[in-house]
Amino acid sequence: MQLIDGKALALQIQAELKEEVIRLKDAGKRVPHLVAVLVGDNPASRSYVRNKIRSCERVGFRSTLHHLEEETTEEELMQLIESLNNDPNVDGFMVQLPLPRHIDATKVTLAIRPEKDVDGFHPTNFGRMTQGLPAFHPATPMGIMEMLRRYDISTSGKDCVVLGRSNIVGRPISIMLSAKGDPGNATVTVLHSKSRNIEERCAQADIVIAAIGIPHFVKPNMVKEGAVIIDVGINRIEDPSRKSGYRLTGDVDFEAVADRCSFITPVPGGVGPMTVTALIMNTWKAYSGEVY
Ligand code: GUN
Repeated sequence: MQLIDGKALALQIQAELKEEVIRLKDAGKRVPHLVAVLVGDNPASRSYVRNKIRSCERVGFRSTLHHLEEETTEEELMQLIESLNNDPNVDGFMVQLPLPRHIDATKVTLAIRPEKDVDGFHPTNFGRMTQGLPAFHPATPMGIMEMLRRYDISTSGKDCVVLGRSNIVGRPISIMLSAKGDPGNATVTVLHSKSRNIEERCAQADIVIAAIGIPHFVKPNMVKEGAVIIDVGINRIEDPSRKSGYRLTGDVDFEAVADRCSFITPVPGGVGPMTVTALIMNTWKAYSGEVY
């Protein structure tokens, strides 16, 4: 079994980008600028956004955080988006999800200019990605693809099961893995809450991407000997022995499953750091005009 060290890989990619930023600075050029918008005080969201800002600092990007209060109206948020859309000093921006219930997340996603949509959530980017056109790819699936590429894990012709069909992870990773290329060229099955024979289907897969948000859902009987397991879950479970009162755990029962796998990602330190890095890579692409 080989552990996929997402944290180390993320730091390596960030170090590569830092070199590029140093070259820009030496040439007296402007550096890329990412803006993050956070509404309210969801503790997980605060932590994710903090990591995004910290990673920007690490690579030498400019970053700005707009932390708005929970009571912010949809109109106020839409005004901020409009100003970011029109600000030539902002290369890309993202609005952290979930949003408070009184704000329509779809309306917000649609309001972000596709050219600045470094999260890749706008239907224009999603559609372009689906058709293999230049696009911003959503950060988590993009981070997973980069991880597979850099670990030389071939997916061509492999049977891949994706657990979960969210717009953020399950749906887009299923499209990317079945697209032409390697990673890619996989035969993908998307399983969800209405699927039958989930355990049997997982047990036949060469690669399992677990993105359903249920702690320790994937058990040894669902893992083929030698399978590749990518754990996207970031579940907070109570742990009185920790100062915070909780710890993070994945959608995979890592301890029970690891021995059966050829490769497996840990939680934390697997997919999470790669998600942040993919956002940084997209900001670089927005800055350098690689997509639009
Ligand atoms: N919430 C969970 N993951 C993400 C993400 O990648 N981007 C945004 N904007 N919100 C999220």
